[in-house]
Amino acid sequence: MAERTLKRAGITGLGMSFPERILTNADLETMVDTKDDWIVERTGIRERHLVEKGTPASHHGALAAQQALDHAGLDAMDVDLILVPTVTPDMTFPATACVIQKLIGADKAWGYDIEAACSGFIYALETARAYVESGLTRNALVIGTEVMSSITDYEDRNTCILFGDGAGAVVVQPVDPADGGIIDAVNHMDGVGVKHLHQKAGGSAMPPSAETVRDKLHYIYQEGRDVYKYAVRGMANVALEVVERNGMQGADVDLLVPHQANIRIIEAAQRRLGLQDEQMAITIDRFGNTTSASIPSALKVAYDEGRVKRGDNVVLVSFGAGFTWGASLIKWCID
Ligand code: UT7
Repeated sequence: MAERTLKRAGITGLGMSFPERILTNADLETMVDTKDDWIVERTGIRERHLVEKGTPASHHGALAAQQALDHAGLDAMDVDLILVPTVTPDMTFPATACVIQKLIGADKAWGYDIEAACSGFIYALETARAYVESGLTRNALVIGTEVMSSITDYEDRNTCILFGDGAGAVVVQPVDPADGGIIDAVNHMDGVGVKHLHQKAGGSAMPPSAETVRDKLHYIYQEGRDVYKYAVRGMANVALEVVERNGMQGADVDLLVPHQANIRIIEAAQRRLGLQDEQMAITIDRFGNTTSASIPSALKVAYDEGRVKRGDNVVLVSFGAGFTWGASLIKWCID
């Protein structure tokens, strides 16, 4: 058995991939009773990217993963763990992690999917951190990938304006603690949320049938106002929790990368932490809510814009179905 010593885990590579096709608010105006003004004001979303029908989540997941590997200077054969947070896996089983493993040729890796809705990436990052810190894993890939359009009812104006497709991926490796890495994380869950946001049919509670398809029970069901109330409180609280328990305050945060569900939820967290606009990573206008892909892709966009630098304190924060919510505090450790 190999000798193991405790390590610090850090993000050492970033990737993202989005489909080319764009669905604008103007397009949605022709599909349901809605208005661009309403969508922008209530959500902050202007457009979202959607796959061509039939493109599985693994497709953009694999592209994002390969980009993250290239960024980290790793070969797919170096990967020993693949974690795929998603609510839109290629199939219920086997895991989309298996499909992506084959697509990228990570023949030495094992892995699995993680289902924690919009907190999937935060939960999976924490899982990867545990493997890397324990010494069990050297090179982990965390790939948030979603085809939300596959479970969205484009006749339901309450939900179809919100979601988009795409993928974001990170490489997690052991790093020198002097350089930084993932410093801390806080995660929470409260099943009170199950009734407010879910997919009714397709699982063991309600197996698929002609009736479930007829009654549109395979689409996202959301009681938006209820989720909104919990999300505003939950996201701000957990971001503050991870910051304060590390002896920091808002001013010490260089970049907050929130899950992109609604600009008003994001701004509530911003106000609570007393952050300036320069401290925020916002992509909701371009991509909508991409569930587990939103945080890694927003991080990648900010990195590409030169807004994440070595030594920066970066806070990732999510709130999603379940309810699930969590935050990670990272001292950025790569150039
Ligand atoms: O990602 C994980 C977790 N999810 C979230 O965090 C989402 C949380 N919820 C939200 O972001 C918001 O609740 C929504 C964006 C989903 C909705 O915004 P809202 O301000 O909560 O609107 P509402 O549901 O209270 O609806 C207000 C009105 C309603 O009309 P009445 O009943 O007041 O006459 C809706 O029917 O707006 C109407 N409405 C729309 N109008 C134009 C709902 N959807 C639309 C639409 N266009 N697309």
